[in-house]
Amino acid sequence: MNARRITPEDAEAFILGNTSLMAPPHVPEIRLYLADEVHDLWHKTEEELQEIGLPPPFWAFAWAGGQGLARCILDHPKLVAGRHVLDFASGSGLVAIAAAMAGAQSVMAADTDPFCETAVRLNAAANQVEIGFTAANLIGKKGDWDVLLAGDVFYDKVLAGHLVPWFEELHRKGVTILIGDPGRSYLPNSGLERLAVYEVPVTRLLEDSEVKRTTVWRLARPISPTAPQPCGA
Ligand SMILES: C[S@@+](CC[C@H](N)C(=O)[O-])C[C@H]1O[C@@H](n2cnc3c(N)ncnc32)[C@H](O)[C@@H]1O
Repeated sequence: MNARRITPEDAEAFILGNTSLMAPPHVPEIRLYLADEVHDLWHKTEEELQEIGLPPPFWAFAWAGGQGLARCILDHPKLVAGRHVLDFASGSGLVAIAAAMAGAQSVMAADTDPFCETAVRLNAAANQVEIGFTAANLIGKKGDWDVLLAGDVFYDKVLAGHLVPWFEELHRKGVTILIGDPGRSYLPNSGLERLAVYEVPVTRLLEDSEVKRTTVWRLARPISPTAPQPCGA
């Protein structure tokens, strides 16, 4: 495979050949093509994919933040029912699938990884839901979303630095921002309202732990002290 020319056929063959259809432990009603111990995908592809300049296969795992957020949406469907939803940094599409199952009016998944479009398409089909997809980098962009879902996105300092002002801007415009996070290093420590807490089983290979305490947050106030305050705040 060449990094600049991954066809959907290449991606589909790779995904089907290196994963199995299984339920993430905290969201058993959804099935996804996920890496398992048999395929040892994380190690194999870190070496193989690095050689051709591709990122690690985030799409092949149901991350703790995504599992917590998907659980919360399925248990509290009013969070998304009837709304236009963006699942930012969708990976496998887990959170987007949960939103569609919970009755969202439309769901768009966004991820810049070149395998994700195919992974999301296969996973949506496996769960009989319809999800749109974009590989565009939406950070800083506006859309007609009512709700933005972000599962496990605060793991990288640079990414977090871009997300905070974007999330604040969307929040000011009336978009509900819901975040699933298992205590990643760059989660903002202000402006967030706790909605739910779960003990989420995770892959020891990735997390060096079997369970991650995962919180679902709603952006409630400006995160950064310098952010403009709404009138009367
Ligand atoms: C830890 S994974 C989380 C995946 C999924 N939300 C979950 O919880 O299972 C982080 C994802 O962020 C995606 N990502 C990173 N930067 C991005 C960007 N600028 N736009 C969209 N996706 C991005 C990566 O490709 C990866 O799939």
